[in-house]
Amino acid sequence: MAATPAVEALGLVKHYGAVRALDGVDLSVEEGTVLGLLGPNGAGKTTLVRIIATLLVPDAGTARVAGHDVRSEARAVRAAIGLAGQFAAVDALLSGRENLVLVGRLYGLSARQAALRAESLLERLGLADAADRLVRGYSGGMRRRLDLGASLVGRPSVLILDEPTTGLDPRTRIELWEIVEGLVRDGTTVLLTTQYLEEADRLAGRIVLIDNGLTIAEGTPDELKERLGADVIDARLRHVDQGEIALAALASLATLSPPGGPAPTWHAEGRRLRIPSAGGAATLLETLRALDAAGIEIEDISLHRPSLEDVFLTLTGRGAGDA
Ligand SMILES: Nc1ncnc2c1ncn2[C@@H]1O[C@H](COP(=O)(O)OP(=O)(O)OP(=O)(O)O)[C@@H](O)[C@H]1O
Ligand SMILES: [Mg+2]
Repeated sequence: MAATPAVEALGLVKHYGAVRALDGVDLSVEEGTVLGLLGPNGAGKTTLVRIIATLLVPDAGTARVAGHDVRSEARAVRAAIGLAGQFAAVDALLSGRENLVLVGRLYGLSARQAALRAESLLERLGLADAADRLVRGYSGGMRRRLDLGASLVGRPSVLILDEPTTGLDPRTRIELWEIVEGLVRDGTTVLLTTQYLEEADRLAGRIVLIDNGLTIAEGTPDELKERLGADVIDARLRHVDQGEIALAALASLATLSPPGGPAPTWHAEGRRLRIPSAGGAATLLETLRALDAAGIEIEDISLHRPSLEDVFLTLTGRGAGDA
């Protein structure tokens, strides 16, 4: 028997007026693991984590954190979690240290305990040097780290991070990943939303991909990549109006589209065709011939192992073919 999951959501539904933000999402995070909740803008990620964090009540479905129901045992859920939101929630007119001490006091720590806790978190997050400066003067990355620190004051067993690295430069992003990895090594369970596939690939043991409030795929990063077949052919077309013609030309290639397998997709923004391919270099040749015969002009074309980005673009079907 598996242990009780640290986070479990079943059939969550949430409307905002006419908008169906969540349409029956299930989710389960095993203790001590990282689950990456991935999805494009407006997919429902923040809505989902806010329900799990007891900040929002679902219209239907249930969620439990550390075995506690988010509705009937909200207090116990709050005691178990730390939440760092999509927008840093620290007070700009206080210093980093004052922010953390304040949160500690809100958690009921004594002044002394709060000061000690703040000190150790500032150290852990690499903010010791900036501890006594006003947050107003912090960079975006420093604010995010402080926000993460604030979510750790209560020593949460479950940490919820809503797009923790959006807008950060690559170096700061890696620093934050290292902090999260350290927390996970110490036994913290993490539910992470992100739009960065690289981030999910690096941090998450399992990924749930949602779009329009629905789960569209779930698995380990490798499982999701395997779903796309062995390789992906990535072609950039010269003319944006040739995407549909190209898809039609490829539809007849049985090797590219085995029944039930993923189909080629067209992404008008980058004029890119993504073609799941089981046949390696032979399929690349076949693809080139088919596109050439249809009069499609290709700017560049490559064959590579699928990345999570390929999974994301293929499964969310962004671009043509998406009704
Ligand atoms: N307070 C609100 N009132 C009305 N509609 C809302 C509200 N909050 C979210 N929505 C809508 O619900 C849907 C899901 O929003 P949500 O913020 O959960 O998405 P998200 O995946 O977090 O997106 P992003 O990547 O942009 O943060 C969207 O269509 C959004 O416009
Ligand atoms: Mg969001």
